[in-house]
Amino acid sequence: MDRTQATQRIQELRETIEEQNYWYYVKDEPKMTDHEYDLLMKELIALEGEFPELLTPDSPSQRVGGTPLDAFEKVQHTTPMLSLGNAFDEQDLRDFDRRVRQAIGTEEPIRYVCELKIDGLAVSLRYENGRFVQGATRGDGTTGEDITQNLKTIRALPLVLKEPYSFEVRGEAYMPRRAFEKLNAIRAEQGEPLFANPRNAAAGSLRQLDPKIAAERSLSIFLYSLVGDDLPVASHSAALHLLEGLGFKVNPERREFTGIEDVITFVQSWTEKRNTLGYDIDGMVIKVDSFAYQEQLGFTAKTPRWAIAYKFPAEEAVTILRDIEVNVGRTGAVTPTAVLDAVSLAGTTVKRASLHNEDIIRGKGIMLGDHVVVKKAGDIIPEVVEVKTNMRTGEEKPYEMPTHCPACGSELVRLDEEVALRCINPKCPAQIREGIIHFVSRNAMNIEGIGERVVTQFHEQGLIHSVADLYYLNREELLALERMGEKSVDNILAAIEKSKENSLERLLFGLGIRFVGEKAAKLLAQRFGTMDELKNAPVNDIVAIHEIGTKIAESVSKYFAMPEVGDTLNRLKDAGVNMEYKGLRPQEVDQDSPFSGKIVVLTGTLEKLTRKEAQEMIEARGGKVSGSVSKKTDFVIAGEEAGSKLEKAEQLGVQVIDEQTFLEWIGEQERQWP
Ligand code: IVH
Repeated sequence: MDRTQATQRIQELRETIEEQNYWYYVKDEPKMTDHEYDLLMKELIALEGEFPELLTPDSPSQRVGGTPLDAFEKVQHTTPMLSLGNAFDEQDLRDFDRRVRQAIGTEEPIRYVCELKIDGLAVSLRYENGRFVQGATRGDGTTGEDITQNLKTIRALPLVLKEPYSFEVRGEAYMPRRAFEKLNAIRAEQGEPLFANPRNAAAGSLRQLDPKIAAERSLSIFLYSLVGDDLPVASHSAALHLLEGLGFKVNPERREFTGIEDVITFVQSWTEKRNTLGYDIDGMVIKVDSFAYQEQLGFTAKTPRWAIAYKFPAEEAVTILRDIEVNVGRTGAVTPTAVLDAVSLAGTTVKRASLHNEDIIRGKGIMLGDHVVVKKAGDIIPEVVEVKTNMRTGEEKPYEMPTHCPACGSELVRLDEEVALRCINPKCPAQIREGIIHFVSRNAMNIEGIGERVVTQFHEQGLIHSVADLYYLNREELLALERMGEKSVDNILAAIEKSKENSLERLLFGLGIRFVGEKAAKLLAQRFGTMDELKNAPVNDIVAIHEIGTKIAESVSKYFAMPEVGDTLNRLKDAGVNMEYKGLRPQEVDQDSPFSGKIVVLTGTLEKLTRKEAQEMIEARGGKVSGSVSKKTDFVIAGEEAGSKLEKAEQLGVQVIDEQTFLEWIGEQERQWP
């Protein structure tokens, strides 16, 4: 490829990738598979590597490319970043409305925009000629810190706008709840302190000097205000609409109302619904819509007179802690749980709460019988956040963390630098049970019909002592169990049987090797192809995998050196569990296939194959599957009722083949598909 061609292709790739980012991260409606996306990104990075002079800071490849900083630079905000006055009840909102109408000098109802108050971190973004040039934290309102590199890692943040505007936009960076839970689960596994809530996690991530950390944290951002003189809009609602049109993520739950009473009804409806969202909100923001009115209203020293924050009632309650139970997780980490006097919290009755970070237990010296504050944030398990030491009566009893594992009795240890106490007995029944629960879980071996309850039952009945035992269960012994009918037994056995076909990465992830998450499992499976190859691989070969560090590599090596692991693997193999990677391995692609190096589009309904199967077959032969037809497409495989993609292919003169021909080319025509 010459330089001109490269320039053009790079441009095309950047646009496609950013377009996909938009659909995936802003609209939440992916238009491509992760794999297709990864391939485009790979191609872009390769081309930019080959032609480094074509690399620009707004390339999507640069979202994670930054080098660690020594310190953040200071940024002077062009207009101060203010905070908002608070309202706590209906009366406060009516008072606000009265003040607004008085200042404007009108009896007429005012038009308001109501928005969710996102519980994250306020940031300001500067765009010049439609390009994102700088992003900053709020700081003290006048001066913030330059966190451009970290903000770039947020895929929902457009690097290039659809029109070349220059302005500042403000919004809230946040961590979705799922990302927060996932992050804390990983931290718990690695013995690192947990984040108390998604807001702290988001703030902690954006304050990291190394942008790679923010990049791993799945942050997102909602924009809620446009700042600048000469704006091409006359109202806040129009500004939000403009931002949306330019590719920004603007919260879709906003509504406009005329008069404060409808605002109040809306605010109340959200007080009840606040936990149904995938992210935390701590209230609502009510803003006067007209910019002319906003200007007339102006500011007090700290807050605008044209907006107010309505704060939801706190989801906290005080109750008495009666006992502390400790549970042992899959990795042996011991986690304490508080047993509480039942208390009503955000509409549910709470009897237990997590004490996961132990800091509270040790730092505040929790005592049995203490009054404690429990908090619930969304679907997250309630947690004890504070001890009311001033409410002590003298009747409280000191609590000591156990020194021995409640499940197996062996001595608990605190490993270097870890917060959590651990049981390090590999035969500990609690760890084994949790390990099997992980093995059958959806992202691991995905054995449907077996969950926590069934594993516990099998384990307690002595039917399973390791994951391998699952494959040696027999129908009679299961039928003899309580609550097990013929149908459930057959379903369970069928699901176990089916899991034998899983590709290697699922098995690797399911084995629960420390530090080996789904991503590492996939990388290992791709690189080594079979369990035996991986098992015999020297640590150096494992570390040589891009994205796998020494911590993972050493853990893998140590894992395979354990004698009981060898036994388990042999038994899994004897039972017929697949030990090979079934996906595409770069080094194994069939070069002679008609699909090698070709771009293929699938459209319409295939009769004998699922889309996924067809895609895998093409990829295994070195082809790429793309979601849309263009001049670059080599073949379109059209099934029944193919629509616009087929039309486009015909217009562009792209070769179209039917399913039968596809199977013949693949050489699979004899194969009988279920
Ligand atoms: S407007 C000048 N809208 O709440 C007014 N703020 O104390 C600028 N926040 O610092 C703020 N969601 O971090 C506005 N939809 C929203 C918001 C929002 C969250 C935060 C923001 C601000 C704080 C107000």
